Amino acid sequence: MRPDRMRRVIVAGGAALAAGGVSGALAATLTPPQTAGPFYPDIKPEDDDSDLTRVRGSDAVANGEIAELTGRVLDPDGKPVAGARVEIWQCDANGRYRHSSERSSRDVDPAFQGFGHALTGTDGSYRFRTIKPVAYPGRTPHIHYLVMVPNHGYLVTQLYVEGEPLNQRDFLYNRLSDEAKRAASARFEPGRGDGMLKASFDVVLGPGNITPA
Ligand SMILES: [Fe+2]
Repeated sequence: MRPDRMRRVIVAGGAALAAGGVSGALAATLTPPQTAGPFYPDIKPEDDDSDLTRVRGSDAVANGEIAELTGRVLDPDGKPVAGARVEIWQCDANGRYRHSSERSSRDVDPAFQGFGHALTGTDGSYRFRTIKPVAYPGRTPHIHYLVMVPNHGYLVTQLYVEGEPLNQRDFLYNRLSDEAKRAASARFEPGRGDGMLKASFDVVLGPGNITPA
């Protein structure tokens, strides 16, 4: 998505992102910016909630490994960023995006929403239910993120799967420093009881990685 178009989707609001500099050695690594790629939805789904594994009006459940994806949006000092809008988009279990430019001949999984959003709470936390990302031709598994902070700006990034062997051959992943790779990755681990994988991914925003609104 073009930056000017990205800017237009930033909603006005009252959340505050600490503008102060990084203080001391404990400051967290900023989440590295990554390209939005060609598949930010050109037509958003009617159901754009935080559960990507079901589409409103159907009982069908998405194919793939269901995962609870949680995390927080933080400033470099670890302070929560409340009221941020977190959007994610990813391909379905067959490797298809929901986009008019998608040219894959594989079947669409109609039960997968493809895109969703969540708002961070006062503690900076967000929560999605989605599928563990899968590879598609030319890319290692990843989930696209757009994090928008009202009146401040936005970050576009991608979440990678820690320990995924295909990461070693991914052209975008391999442009990152080792520190940035760690900051852009999450483990997907079996949960207890509910059958869902669990992944935790904190997004750290600061003047060094946010594009002003
Ligand atoms: Fe992608």
